[in-house]
Amino acid sequence: MTGLTGGLGRLRQEAIYRAGVSGTRPRVPTDAAALREAARRRCSTRAWAYVEGGAGEGRTMAANRAAFDRHEIVPRMLRDVVERDLSTTLLGVELPTPLLLAPVGAAGLVARDADVLIGRGAAAAGVPYILSCQGSSPMERTAEAMGDAPRWFQLYWSRDEDLVDSFLGRAAAIGAGAVVVTLDTTMLGWRPQDLNLGSLPFSQGIGIAQYTSDPRFSELVRQRLGGPARDVRVTPAAVRTLLSISREHPGGLLDNLRSPVPRAAVETFLDVYSNPALTWDHIATLRDRTSLPVVLKGILHPDDARKAVDLGVDAVIVSNHGGRQVDGSTASLDALVRVRAAVGEGYPLVLDSGVRTGADVFKAIALGADAVTLGRPHIYGLALDGWRGVADVVGNVLAEFDLTMGLSGVSSVAEIDSGRLVGVL
Ligand code: GLV
Repeated sequence: MTGLTGGLGRLRQEAIYRAGVSGTRPRVPTDAAALREAARRRCSTRAWAYVEGGAGEGRTMAANRAAFDRHEIVPRMLRDVVERDLSTTLLGVELPTPLLLAPVGAAGLVARDADVLIGRGAAAAGVPYILSCQGSSPMERTAEAMGDAPRWFQLYWSRDEDLVDSFLGRAAAIGAGAVVVTLDTTMLGWRPQDLNLGSLPFSQGIGIAQYTSDPRFSELVRQRLGGPARDVRVTPAAVRTLLSISREHPGGLLDNLRSPVPRAAVETFLDVYSNPALTWDHIATLRDRTSLPVVLKGILHPDDARKAVDLGVDAVIVSNHGGRQVDGSTASLDALVRVRAAVGEGYPLVLDSGVRTGADVFKAIALGADAVTLGRPHIYGLALDGWRGVADVVGNVLAEFDLTMGLSGVSSVAEIDSGRLVGVL
C-alpha cells in the first residue's frame, strides 16, 4: 500500500484501507445510501420525520436527485493530475474546498448540543459552517467551539425588527463572515411526516436556542407575560437554566416544566419567528443595519436572482430548502443553470439542496456554482458519531470530489465547467 499518497482522496482511501487490514471498518459509511440508512436506525421517529421529511409527496426532494442524475461526467485522459487544487474564493475569502455546511434547524432532535458538535466537526474538516437561526445551541457557544474556523449566520427574518437587529449584532460579534437570509420559509411548508406525528420541534422548545439566549427575545417574553422583569424572572440566569435543562433533555423539555418562563418563550417564538410580509424592501434595509456581506438563500427564479444583484446582495444560494417547502418545485440544480445564465459569470452562486456525493459537487460546479452546501448528510454523521461523524461525512464527500477531479482530468476547481458534462442543460 505504499505509494498511496497525494491528495485528499488518496489519503482518505489509504487511511480506510490501512485500518481495514486490522479489521476496522469506517464508523460512518462512505456512500450516501448506507449513511442515510445507518442514521435512520439511530434516530427517534420524531427526529427522523423532521430531518428526513420533505414537503407534500416528496416530489421536490426526488427532483433534486433526478436533476443530478440527468447530467453525466465525461472524464478526459492523460492530463497529469498529480497536483489538484480544490480551493476556491467566495466573498473574497479563499476556501480550501468549495463546500460549506448548510444550516439545519432543530438538530437538537438528533444530539444534545448539536450545533456545537456540528461546528466542531466543520472546523475539524476545514469547511465553513452556516449556523442556523433555528439552532439548538446559542451561536456564541458554537462559535467558541469552532475557534477561528469560518462561520456564517443564517437568519430567519422575525416579525420583530429589533430581534432582527439583535441577531445581526450577535452574528457580527461571533465573527460571522456573512449573514444568510433564508427567503423561502416565511411559513413552514406542508410536511406530512411531522404533521402525522403532530410533531413540531420548536413547539417543544427544540431549535430555539438563538432566541432563548437573546436579550431582545427575553424582552418580548417579558412583554408577553405582561409584567416588569422582576416579576417574570426572565433573567440571564433563567435563560442559562433553560439552556442547561435543554442539554439534559433534548426531547421535549419545555412541556415538562411547570415554570411559565419556558412555555412563554415557546409561545413568543411561535409568534415572532418568521415573517410572511417579507419583501425586497426589508432586504434593502440590511445595508444600513449590518456591515456583514449579505447572502440570500432560497432563490430559484432568474428574475429574483437579477433583483438580488441589482440590490447589491453579495451572493445568492440557489436552494429549494432541501425540498422541504414547496412540493413539486423546480430542482435546485436546474434552477442553478437558469440563474447562472441570468446573473452571468463572476457573480457568487452557491448551490444548496440535493448534494450527497463528491460527484454531485463536481456537477454543481460544472453547472455554474462557485460552491455547494451539504445539509442532511452532515446530520446523518452527527447521529452516527457526533462531531467526528460530521467531520467524517465531509471528509468522505471531499475525498470523492478530489478523486472525481483527478479521474476526470481536472487539476483545479476553476477548470470544472459545463464542457465536463453531457446531459440536459
Ligand atoms: C426550517 O428550519 C426547516 O425546518 O426546514
